[in-house]
Amino acid sequence: MDIFHLFLIAFSLILVIFIFVMINQIKKLKRKNLVIQSIKKISDKLPEMGHRMDFIKLIGSTLKEITHSKEFVYFSYNEKMKILVPIYAESPYAKQILEIRLKIGEGFTGKVARERKPGILNFANEKKGSIHIPGTPHEKNSLLAIPMIFNGSLLGVILQVKYGNKIFNEEDLALSKIFVNTVASFLYTKNLLYGMRNSVVQLIISFVKNVEYRDAYTAGHSIRVGHFAEIIARGMGLMEREILIAKIGGFLHDIGKIAVEDKILKEKSPLDDEDWIKIKTHPEVGAEMISKFEFLKEVVPCIWFHHKHYDGFGYPSYPVKGKDIPICGRIVAVADAIDAITTTRPGHPARSLSQAFEELIRNSGSQFDPEVVEAAIKNKKEIERYVRKEFDVEDEENYRDFEKIL
Ligand SMILES: [Fe+2]
Ligand SMILES: [Fe+2]
Repeated sequence: MDIFHLFLIAFSLILVIFIFVMINQIKKLKRKNLVIQSIKKISDKLPEMGHRMDFIKLIGSTLKEITHSKEFVYFSYNEKMKILVPIYAESPYAKQILEIRLKIGEGFTGKVARERKPGILNFANEKKGSIHIPGTPHEKNSLLAIPMIFNGSLLGVILQVKYGNKIFNEEDLALSKIFVNTVASFLYTKNLLYGMRNSVVQLIISFVKNVEYRDAYTAGHSIRVGHFAEIIARGMGLMEREILIAKIGGFLHDIGKIAVEDKILKEKSPLDDEDWIKIKTHPEVGAEMISKFEFLKEVVPCIWFHHKHYDGFGYPSYPVKGKDIPICGRIVAVADAIDAITTTRPGHPARSLSQAFEELIRNSGSQFDPEVVEAAIKNKKEIERYVRKEFDVEDEENYRDFEKIL
């Protein structure tokens, strides 16, 4: 082989290596660019993203794009209890994952939280001390965990999972870290907002409880109406958000009764005209109260129009009828009527669900929206589960769905 051929081979080799290095560099640059784009996307979307959970979901989907991980769990750090609580999991086993609680230092994720340093644990299932979540399959998996820290405080830990022979590398860790560190301040703001909204919701729930306790006949009424409204809204094929609003609207529909005096609320015999005038203010009072809170604004029409008739009669006197009455108001009106008819009230004993439906059909098109009535009747079985069901008004479980609106 002459010198020319040797030179040609050497040159080709260098060229191949050069191309290989360049391809790798381009790939790295592409991933870095993806991180920058993702941060930009998140900061652009931030003003319109009112809910903390939406934000966490976006973090998860972005990280999955960056590292090609399969699953994502966000553990929120509970400072008081010194535990990690998973509040969002993108996994087929989300239900099981959301039940676990990790002490600081426990398992790989707990250690990352204690040391406040990101880490990789490839083939975690083969490592000593790895935690297997009951109800999930024993699979070959690799983990990448990043602590989310802002202003020196641990907010939580983000865990990503890959399966089989797919593992995490240092680049996955570095890029995830850049991304997580940047969005930590956004999440911190969201957490503050969440805390404030949660205090408002706790106060509102205490008003609902107050009404429930003072009303001689209606203990558990608001909670049952919430369930009926949810079933009807789902039966009508509404979107998940509208279903949630209908349910919360059901919970809160009578909140304006907080302003109605005891004497009227506790009255067991039919009310006189003067008392009726007072009690008829409760939809407007309640709507006015709730309208003060921006994050609950979608619930306002459910409260405002729950005594408004489909034909425009009923109260308040606000001139609106038919499909112009917001859907949530039309749904809560039917849900409220079902509970009123099936429980003992001043002037009438409790009647059966079938009798309630007869009443709804009789007033369909006049008092009630025929479409809503139809959805209620079609879902009789589900509604039946809650008819006259007693609820412990104090039980926090009953108000769980408020979480979703924060
Ligand atoms: Fe009412
Ligand atoms: Fe009611």
